[in-house]
Amino acid sequence: MTTSDTRPMKAIILYDSMSVGGSTERFIDAVGLELAKAGAYVEKARCRQNGDYSFVAEFDLVVLGAPIYYLLVSSQLLGALSKSNLKQNLKGKMVALFVACGSPEPMAQLLYLPQLKMNLENPVILAERVLSPDQLNDPAAAAGFVDEIVASYQKSPKP
Ligand SMILES: Cc1cc2nc3c(=O)[nH]c(=O)nc-3n(C[C@H](O)[C@H](O)[C@H](O)COP(=O)(O)O)c2cc1C
Repeated sequence: MTTSDTRPMKAIILYDSMSVGGSTERFIDAVGLELAKAGAYVEKARCRQNGDYSFVAEFDLVVLGAPIYYLLVSSQLLGALSKSNLKQNLKGKMVALFVACGSPEPMAQLLYLPQLKMNLENPVILAERVLSPDQLNDPAAAAGFVDEIVASYQKSPKP
């Protein structure tokens, strides 16, 4: 995957989880591997609500995701979006969104993804997922997510 000036696309996965080595981390590692296989340069960073996100400017794609705990997107990601300069640095960026939750019934689509989307200004959303524990552990789910990201990226006008 390359940009309009043919350098490899730079992707960062920004995530949060209360767990270390839990289902979210396993999923983002699988996503990172798939993005790298598609030719992207990939980094990952765990969110801190008081972090400085100016580094996001150098990335072409931001994958943003976290689990749901007690009906809310995990607090360090949600906090970063509302309290830090993350929102400002994501303005107009190409993003892919996911949330991980125990019960991804249709209601989850309405309840959880909007918690991320309402904090984004003029995003280009390449793909979005609400993931069950089974999907988080399924390499095919990560591959399908990345396939959709790559296909949408290739169709999108590049800055
Ligand atoms: C304390 C706690 C609260 C949770 N609350 C919810 C919830 O409100 N809705 C939901 O669908 N899943 C909920 N879950 C399920 C998690 O979102 C799901 O298991 C997720 O994959 C956990 O990610 P992790 O392994 O990275 O921590 C909760 C899990 C925990 C441990």
